[in-house]
Amino acid sequence: MQKAIAPGKLILSGEHAVVYGQPCLAIAVNRYASAWAKPHPPFQIGFELLNLDYHKQMTFSALKKLKGRLHESYEEFLAGRQSIRDVLKLPYQLSTYAVSHLLEKLNHSLDKGVHLSTHSDIPLGCGMGSSASMILAVMHALALQQGLTLSSEDYFEHAQETEHLQHGRSSGIDLRVSLHGGGLYYHQGKMEKRPLPDFPLWIINTGTPLSSTGECVATLAPTLENPTLLADFQAITLAFDQALQQQNLAEIQRCAKENQYLLAHVGVVPLAVQELIQTLGQHGIVGKVCGAGAVRGEQAGVILLWTESLPSHLPPILARQIQSIKGDELGLRSA
Ligand code: PMV
Repeated sequence: MQKAIAPGKLILSGEHAVVYGQPCLAIAVNRYASAWAKPHPPFQIGFELLNLDYHKQMTFSALKKLKGRLHESYEEFLAGRQSIRDVLKLPYQLSTYAVSHLLEKLNHSLDKGVHLSTHSDIPLGCGMGSSASMILAVMHALALQQGLTLSSEDYFEHAQETEHLQHGRSSGIDLRVSLHGGGLYYHQGKMEKRPLPDFPLWIINTGTPLSSTGECVATLAPTLENPTLLADFQAITLAFDQALQQQNLAEIQRCAKENQYLLAHVGVVPLAVQELIQTLGQHGIVGKVCGAGAVRGEQAGVILLWTESLPSHLPPILARQIQSIKGDELGLRSA
């Protein structure tokens, strides 16, 4: 049996603006998507997606047909005839597409069948890159079991083509971070390694947003075509990058606060989450939504907290929601 794991990620600064070519800073974290691949009869594929309670056996040709239908649906989105929400309508379709896409790209038929199981402790759709990590884990487990050799650029390319079906227009940041691990400064496709923060990190998960990443990105498109706003995002990310390299917590807090303000301004932080961040602020903790946020509903996924230590006098209702999280240096790997 071959097992692969891929870490989730948190964006420290620059989400959304990154889709428009602005810089972005992100770190890989110790929450993982895992995939196991084991032998199966020739030209047969078995899926056991544990979080989704999805168990299915299919033939290689049925898998190819399924992929074809999803691809046609994506073309409809590209032609402006349907929303990105109508492309991958069911969560299991992401993994089935990932498998089929990789096999097609490598022109590899399943004469040695495969049985794939997956599990993830990255909350779905909460800004932690769950889709990217799952695509990479599935592709890597499959490649290991089928004896296929891929460079990290190959993984990136095939995984990004798959991620587009989920996000509509993906900057690739989630995939880059999950592939390489550690801290990453990402600008127009180029990446530079950065240190992980030297401070203890905490998150609060405000819950799965009603809107998907694809929907948020599409909704913000008219707003983010404003060069002044993009310049503001850029300035904050550049300052954050300096502060991270100097491990300057006070400056990181200032940048995170400004980035949070901009995200609220463009409309991806629901009022209830803004209030929670304000309450945290009263206790000396800076919070910022990480990832797409939300354009509908009350939940906006994960908030990353910046504080030297957790104050002892936090109200229990707040303290109970806080989870500790750590950076992951390694990225996609076999396990
Ligand atoms: O919420 P997530 O993990 O899907 O992060 C999305 C980050 C965006 O900048 C909003 C989109 C992207 O493709 O970069």
